[in-house]
Amino acid sequence: MQAWLCENPTGVDALQWKELPTPQPQAGQVLVEIQAASLNFPDLLIVQNKYQIKPPLPFVPGSEYAGVVRAVGDGVRHLKVGQSVACLSGTGGFATHTLAPAALCMPLPPGFPPVDAAAFIMIYATSHHALIDRAQLKPGETVLVLGAAGGVGTAAIQIAKAAGARVIAAASTDDKCALCKSIGADQTINYTTHGLPNAFREAVKAATGGKGPDVIYDPVGGDFSEPAFRSIAWRGRYLVVGFASGPIPSLPLNLPLLKGASLVGVFWGDFAKREPQANGAMMQELAQWYAQGKVKPVIDRTMPMAELKAAYAHMGSRGVKGKLVLVN
Ligand SMILES: NC(=O)c1ccc[n+]([C@@H]2O[C@H](COP(=O)([O-])OP(=O)(O)OC[C@H]3O[C@@H](n4cnc5c(N)ncnc54)[C@H](OP(=O)(O)O)[C@@H]3O)[C@@H](O)[C@H]2O)c1
Repeated sequence: MQAWLCENPTGVDALQWKELPTPQPQAGQVLVEIQAASLNFPDLLIVQNKYQIKPPLPFVPGSEYAGVVRAVGDGVRHLKVGQSVACLSGTGGFATHTLAPAALCMPLPPGFPPVDAAAFIMIYATSHHALIDRAQLKPGETVLVLGAAGGVGTAAIQIAKAAGARVIAAASTDDKCALCKSIGADQTINYTTHGLPNAFREAVKAATGGKGPDVIYDPVGGDFSEPAFRSIAWRGRYLVVGFASGPIPSLPLNLPLLKGASLVGVFWGDFAKREPQANGAMMQELAQWYAQGKVKPVIDRTMPMAELKAAYAHMGSRGVKGKLVLVN
């Protein structure tokens, strides 16, 4: 097998494409031949030693992938050789093969292509948990999605529409705004031309008839969060999803008071561990929504696995719309 090996977590440049012995699965594991692996934001942080999870060295990055089971370890009942699976195991995906914990592998129904499957679990699980569970989004409510053309952002647009909400998508270029419209956003705000904080707040106000969004989905953080929170509707729910822009913002606590609004944390990974039954039911609903065409990953492009470094550069330059997927 071949894999991108991180022996020294100083960044993307230190990764090396190496030949390794193909391992045999231990109890509870399966050997997956990887067909596709998507690039997620944590994949960038983990090779820089900036992610909350620091795997022992050396490790193979690549949190999320899809492929075919080639060998099964003792005690694995729900998977067999030849089964197509998607898996989000945190590491191992940027390779031709990996050992995956069987419990984390989602068997794929026929008609679920590996490129879509590799780009599915992280973004849809996060956005479904955020909007449906944490925000209790109701039909007819208005959602403002920041970073709306990114991975979790595009998923948030589709899930909010599937839930019957009205969506305002905010992104940094006209191209990204056009993409958001093409996947269902009702209105868009280019936050480069509608600069922070005042022009952006005016644009949000105008888009909501002065009322403000009922739910704000924020995977960006930094300078965006406070102006967005100041725009929220009475009884609004502000979803803290991530900090793609870098800085973790602080918020004056009089703001939630003045709007009777809630600041709501979203941590899908821990939700899946702490509430596995609820997470399983959610994943089943998402798989049905995929089969019904209600959600479909937006694939910016596919690239050969060997071009991982160029893929990272594209993500780092804020160029990806939706998801970038590496294929073997
Ligand atoms: N809480 C959870 O459970 C959970 C789960 C998954 C992901 N996350 C977090 O959610 C965030 C977004 O993840 P993602 O996979 O959607 O990432 P992504 O595809 O790269 O999208 C992030 C978006 O953020 C915007 N952005 C603004 N400033 C940026 C900067 N300096 N660098 C990069 N992007 C910037 C970009 O949109 P514009 O150019 O339009 O501004 C970009 O499209 C990450 O922080 C990730 O760790 C959280």
